[in-house]
Amino acid sequence: MTPSMPMRESLLVKGGRIVTAADDYVGDIFIENETVTLIGESLDVQAERVIDASGKLVMPGAIDPHTHLEAQSVLTTTCDDFTSGTVSAAFGGTTSLIDFCMQTPGESFPSALASYHEKIERCEPVIDVGFHIAVTDLREGGTLEDLARLPDEGVTSYKLFMAYKGAVMVDDETLFKTMQIATETGALVMVHAENGDAIDVLVKQALAEGKTEPKYHALTRPPETEGEATNRAIQLARVARSPLYVVHVSCKEAIAPIARARAEGWQVFGETCPQYLFIDETVLDQPGFEGAKYVFTPPPRAQENQEHLWQALSTDVLSVVSTDHCPLNWKGQKTLGMDDFSKIPNGGPGIENRLHMLYHHGVREGRLTLNRFVELTSTNVAKLFGLYPRKGTIAVGSDADIVVWDPAKRLTISAATHHSQVDYNLFEGCEVVGAPEVVLVRGQVIVENDELVAQPGAGEFIKRARFGERLEPTSRAVAAAS
Ligand code: URP
Ligand code: ZN
Ligand code: ZN
Repeated sequence: MTPSMPMRESLLVKGGRIVTAADDYVGDIFIENETVTLIGESLDVQAERVIDASGKLVMPGAIDPHTHLEAQSVLTTTCDDFTSGTVSAAFGGTTSLIDFCMQTPGESFPSALASYHEKIERCEPVIDVGFHIAVTDLREGGTLEDLARLPDEGVTSYKLFMAYKGAVMVDDETLFKTMQIATETGALVMVHAENGDAIDVLVKQALAEGKTEPKYHALTRPPETEGEATNRAIQLARVARSPLYVVHVSCKEAIAPIARARAEGWQVFGETCPQYLFIDETVLDQPGFEGAKYVFTPPPRAQENQEHLWQALSTDVLSVVSTDHCPLNWKGQKTLGMDDFSKIPNGGPGIENRLHMLYHHGVREGRLTLNRFVELTSTNVAKLFGLYPRKGTIAVGSDADIVVWDPAKRLTISAATHHSQVDYNLFEGCEVVGAPEVVLVRGQVIVENDELVAQPGAGEFIKRARFGERLEPTSRAVAAAS
């Protein structure tokens, strides 16, 4: 990450239809020192650069709170780093992401955080980056004291895996103690909710019966294991009085306890991802080991779940659509599990196409309003993860993270044209209408007309506020406004 240069140029985004989670109006946006300083109808200002946004939508940049860049697992490392991953994100209209800083079991939290800072320093991210800490061990390396200090470093969410037994899964004691620390420190607890013990039994039984093909990935992780773990995490969070965020919800068994919790007024939130809205379990059974491309966790579910997920998104049972971008090449990485589905590294790519798929099938096909689209991909993420109102909206004082969106632009999604390093695309061949035309990160033009025009290293590390607290404008913003 090269030191960020403050943006000196002033910029006017003129005549676009400005859509936030709450508003929808035509206007001009004036940007100075990386910040929105004025919004109004036909602004009478001199700007060094004018972007004509007439006929376009102008929305807050999307935020992806669930990515795995340069993430190491037992067998391999994801194939996008913080350069290629953020470039791919930017082409899809995402202007910030929050990645998982993984504590290797036995490692201390300061050491894990330092190694993730090194990763972004070594790379040249073009969008802003924050970290969650993924807690895998509180017995050997990780201490509660160190965990409690992380929010001071801007790491204000603790993620735990209730699955992946023998690798990063935690027991309920570790989960519960982390929840108690979160209550003290104002962090948000995130869970990957699946019953890892039951899944481990099912996987071993399947392999003993000679069932080795990719389809057994789904058959050994039934939706009830997700529903059970989701409910367990919710009940434990109630006892600990911590807020809870359930990642990658895939099925009606997990939606039900979240719906109940929210109806009761508990602080429980859930996200889903495009793969669960558009891909069903049948893809795993494709010939020629093609099914391995869809080995992500939780697995693709029976198709009927997709309607439940859309319903949950439109009724505020689920609050966010993230990507869980975890890019692993089919050739050389997925093929590690050619003879044993349990050795196929888990994860699928998606960082670039979240907005394309959600706009086309959500907004254009009438499942989501435009305001809800912005809320699910940007504003709610900012509010839950301590970025609001600096990010997640278009308002005076906010970072000028803006997507000028062409609602008529046609795109065929393909690995041949995406900007991730990965050798396949989960949505290969999907034709969509609606795509970014210009993408700004703190007023810097990053992508314009399908070209990367960013300064290398334009992205910055973001120190996030605690759960429920505001992230106030930067000193740059204050200087620009005065
Ligand atoms: O299969 C997936 N989702 N891999 C990434 C790790 C996780 O569980 O989110
Ligand atoms: Zn997960
Ligand atoms: Zn994930």
